[in-house]
Amino acid sequence: MGSFGATHDAERVEGRAIAPLYTASKAAVTMLTTQYAKSWPAVKVNAADPGYTATDFTGHSGPQTVTEGTDAIVELATIGTDGPTGTFRDRHGEMPW
Ligand SMILES: NC(=O)c1ccc[n+]([C@@H]2O[C@H](COP(=O)([O-])OP(=O)(O)OC[C@H]3O[C@@H](n4cnc5c(N)ncnc54)[C@H](OP(=O)(O)O)[C@@H]3O)[C@@H](O)[C@H]2O)c1
Repeated sequence: MGSFGATHDAERVEGRAIAPLYTASKAAVTMLTTQYAKSWPAVKVNAADPGYTATDFTGHSGPQTVTEGTDAIVELATIGTDGPTGTFRDRHGEMPW
């Protein structure tokens, strides 16, 4: 929801939602990701998008399970020292900013 690419894609669920404050707060997080990554090159700083997931927050309406929603988070939390930094990923790969 903080991705300009996703929220401008009418084929995606993010492209059909209107939530100004929520989307602005998530876009701020991805900008912090790239700024922190550039500030501390020795530290891996990446942003994870869980995807629309069935949790309390969504009233259990999302199509993904919580386990699927945590795939990208677990992947990024366990990358090695040669892993990426300054990236934005969901469980399928690189996300558009
Ligand atoms: N679900 C989705 O489709 C989706 C998609 C993309 C991004 N996200 C993002 O993922 C994050 C988690 O969402 P979720 O769907 O997992 O929400 P959730 O089911 O409502 O869970 C939110 C969690 O945050 C904890 N929490 C809330 N306020 C807190 C506070 N002040 N201090 C410490 N912990 C606090 C809650 O703890 P308690 O249970 O103890 O209250 C709960 O464990 C959010 O930032 C959301 O925007 C969610």
